[in-house]
Amino acid sequence: MLCSLGLAALLAAPSFSLAQVVGTPYGFAAGVTGGGSATPQTPADIEELADWLADDTPRVIMIRKTFDFIGSEGTTTQRGCRSATIPCNLSNGGQDWIKDTCDAGEAQVQVTYDNAGTSGLQVGSNKSLVGVGDKGVIRGKGLRILGGNNNIIIQNIHFTQLNPELVWGGDAIGLEGNDGVWIDHCKFSLVGRQMLVTHYESSRLTVSNCEFDGVTEFSSSCNGDHYWTALLYGEDQKITLDRNYFHDVSGRAPKIGGGGNQIVHAVNNYFSNIGGHNFDIGKGASVLIEGNVFDGADTPITSGTKSSGASVFTTPDSSSAATCSGYLGRDCVVNSLASSGDWISLTSTTPLYDIGMSTGNIVNPMGVSKVADYVVKNAGIGKLGSAGSADSAAALASEPTSKKTAAATKAPASQGAEAAGMWTQCGGANWSGPTTCVSGAQCVKQNEWYYQCLEA
Ligand SMILES: *[C@@H]1O[C@H](CO)[C@@H](O)[C@H](O)[C@H]1NC(C)=O
Ligand SMILES: *[C@@H]1O[C@H](CO)[C@@H](O)[C@H](O)[C@H]1NC(C)=O
Ligand SMILES: *[C@@H]1O[C@H](CO)[C@@H](O)[C@H](O)[C@H]1NC(C)=O
Repeated sequence: MLCSLGLAALLAAPSFSLAQVVGTPYGFAAGVTGGGSATPQTPADIEELADWLADDTPRVIMIRKTFDFIGSEGTTTQRGCRSATIPCNLSNGGQDWIKDTCDAGEAQVQVTYDNAGTSGLQVGSNKSLVGVGDKGVIRGKGLRILGGNNNIIIQNIHFTQLNPELVWGGDAIGLEGNDGVWIDHCKFSLVGRQMLVTHYESSRLTVSNCEFDGVTEFSSSCNGDHYWTALLYGEDQKITLDRNYFHDVSGRAPKIGGGGNQIVHAVNNYFSNIGGHNFDIGKGASVLIEGNVFDGADTPITSGTKSSGASVFTTPDSSSAATCSGYLGRDCVVNSLASSGDWISLTSTTPLYDIGMSTGNIVNPMGVSKVADYVVKNAGIGKLGSAGSADSAAALASEPTSKKTAAATKAPASQGAEAAGMWTQCGGANWSGPTTCVSGAQCVKQNEWYYQCLEA
């Protein structure tokens, strides 16, 4: 067991493998190295930034100023639509839509937008994009990480001003099938559409210590809160959401599932002043929600989540929290709600299996009473050096929230550290891995070569 002094020294040591990146990717992004030890480079202008992000060279790209894309690709005026049923529009706090054909109840209008916002910067494999101090700002354009580009770190960057007055005006970060992305200490504000969207393909990522700042004069919910926050949707996605600050948003914060299937661990996030909904979970999703704080959240979870066919564990109370130990090697942390709408008790053990079998990707939460203060101090940009933020992964391992901490990334103690996870191999000819399964599963022969852990 490391004593806290030893651990502090460890944390203070610079990371030798990840030049300029602070902390270590963890959760489902564990093992990501980005640009690795490539010599850090500072792009001179937006063209160089775009080129370096998109090419095939592993790079560590430092952002020391605002890169302003507004105006760089011209503007477009075209047909748009304005909702007639929601009594708000561009002149009084709403958003209009970029689209040719209006639906019933919408009026045709002309809309003008900045072209840069509507298409993201492409990002190649093996990149670290890192903001310096509080200077890392990308204005008027987001990132669009096309499928097959993997191993990417985006840290300490503020994405802002993507046609916020128009739905479809721009996404801050869009993933389209990327194995291993760590988005850490970023900030999102004033975007037209999604702050984060994972589209239809298979991605593996962690979003940590990010600030989703929804304060806007252009709100689809007409209340000063941005609606299109985080849309996590698609095939075989594995996503950790840890220690993020969602505030003044009104919808999709986050929306998970409804297509494809996603394993999501949402832990220690702080949801504050939410004039709409947070979790809206649909069929196909497997979601563990634990140790989060909701303060002034109108609808912390949608009622539709319950009947959607999703598999959700909402950690409603201490007896449900204890259920987790059989899967995660520790109890879950009960969520905390104040001045908020009803929480729903959902206790599907599927997400516990799914996350429990991903040994090495399980986040060990801090106690819920610490979350609000910690997240407000640490989430967003310009905070990499702040006390207590140094940094996630290592700090997580040290959080003394439970005596079971050391077992957190292992299988249940009763099975020993060698137990195979649900649905994984547990035997067969020439198999040298674990031959017992996690609690709740039994090892079943499928054929001579393959035995699998199935639900007992
Ligand atoms: C990224 O790094 C991995 C591991 O070193 C390597 O296999 C791959 O070819 C790299 N991709 C590019 C585009 O450089
Ligand atoms: C904006 O909405 C308000 C409230 O519904 C309405 O009175 C006004 O006419 C609308 N403005 C425009 C330009 O459509
Ligand atoms: C399995 O192990 C045996 C020796 O025990 C070896 O002869 C055989 O080639 C192995 N089969 C495979 C598929 O690796």
